[in-house]
Amino acid sequence: MVARVVPVEPFDLVVFGITGDLARRKLIPALYHRMDAGQMPQGARIIGTGRGALDDTALRRLVSEALDAFVGPKNLDAAVREAFLAAFEYLRLDATSQAGWEDLAAAVPDVPGRPRVFYLSVAPGLFEPIAAQIHQAGLAGGETRVVIEKPLGHDLASARQLNGRLAQCFDEHQIYRIDHYLGKETVQNLMALRFANALFEPLWNARHIDHVQITVAESVGVEGRGAYYDAMGAMRDMLQNHMLQLLCLIAMEPPNHIEPDEVRDEKLKVLNALAPLGDSQSVVRGQYGRDNGMASYLEEVENPDSHCESFVALKTCVDNWRWAGVPFYLRTGKRLRARVSEIAVTFKEVPHSIFPLGSGQIDHNVLIIRLQPDEGINLLMTIKDPGPGGMRLAPAELDMTFAERLAARGLRMPDAYERLVMDVVRGDQTLFMRGDEVEAAWAWIDPIVARWEEQDDRPHPYDPGTAGPDEAMMLLHRDGRRWREISA
Ligand code: BG6
Repeated sequence: MVARVVPVEPFDLVVFGITGDLARRKLIPALYHRMDAGQMPQGARIIGTGRGALDDTALRRLVSEALDAFVGPKNLDAAVREAFLAAFEYLRLDATSQAGWEDLAAAVPDVPGRPRVFYLSVAPGLFEPIAAQIHQAGLAGGETRVVIEKPLGHDLASARQLNGRLAQCFDEHQIYRIDHYLGKETVQNLMALRFANALFEPLWNARHIDHVQITVAESVGVEGRGAYYDAMGAMRDMLQNHMLQLLCLIAMEPPNHIEPDEVRDEKLKVLNALAPLGDSQSVVRGQYGRDNGMASYLEEVENPDSHCESFVALKTCVDNWRWAGVPFYLRTGKRLRARVSEIAVTFKEVPHSIFPLGSGQIDHNVLIIRLQPDEGINLLMTIKDPGPGGMRLAPAELDMTFAERLAARGLRMPDAYERLVMDVVRGDQTLFMRGDEVEAAWAWIDPIVARWEEQDDRPHPYDPGTAGPDEAMMLLHRDGRRWREISA
């Protein structure tokens, strides 16, 4: 159970692509957990659509299998499972053809006060046609909301086109663009940390902060998504969205209120203040080789000539009054030493040491916001080494691991999709990207990617299980700094 759940209003959720991977792995388990927590009300309906000749019973069987696989039999409650399966209905619909839309319109009539959510868990090429069909079928009015998830274009032009087409069908307040990083518990905690504590805000600027590192390291490879990944690369797959969103939350000014457009206005200002990445020395790309019988990137994507990066590291600045001159170093990659996502904010050194040489080192204070694993916040400090032996300084760590606090209260860490799906039903867009944010992020990375393509740039090879190519180390060494270790 997750504490303090406020049930949402009964809703109709139409899932395009209900039998796909995202729905099975993420959406169905998230909805189950919300029902288990008492948040999904009686009368909520989940209508799965697809081209296949299924019926309600067959769909419920598929959903049941997804629960076994991705929630796990140990975590399933028989009564909740039964009620959950009963909420599912199947509607046969080929999203690309004209047929079947009247049936859908009849199945989910516009009922005032009853949210009608269309979740497009489909290939991105289907976003525009499905949006147009929803509109043509007269389903875009009233309480309609539409949910899409990256890739939201592959460059500025395609993102603009997608936004333009969506705008022909829906108002911006009806469009929920998921970046699942924004639903992660620690990412939301970042806002609490910054704006519900008086301690950090006075220090949160170029006068006191030396630099910021954002790392999203994965130990897995491209995992059967070779065709998608090889057309995207780490820059488009992770940096354009998840990592820039994290950067925005670190760097943004306090919004007046935690209201969707106030938060998103502030994030947009950060994106617009990012220094252009003109200098090729500020960006390093890498591609993993083969190791211990594990396939190399090129083998995994089955493209021996691929110049696509599975790793990217870069240095940027937020050119505004608060952050002038503070480097933000970002890196992300696959097949690295461990799965670690964290933001590390390093404060400046003390201006003068009163301690004699030989007392031990005074390290920078570092505030570490850990997204995964072991979600939590740590603060690295210097203290006196306890006990006799005179004034000897030693590093110490203030550790706020959330899992322990939750476990102590018999609670579980919710998955990002649980929060995000319920926010869609509630009509709260705070944790969703607005169209202009997506465009600003593309506008910033496009010139870099274009340069790689023009110059036929090749990524630096790196060994799996490492921290990426040596050139990425140089990015910080040149500035007299070091990346934090990537370790589980
Ligand atoms: C996805 C990327 O958006 O995020 C994947 O497409 C990546 O390549 C994944 O593996 C990482 O998400 P998480 O939540 O596991 O950190």
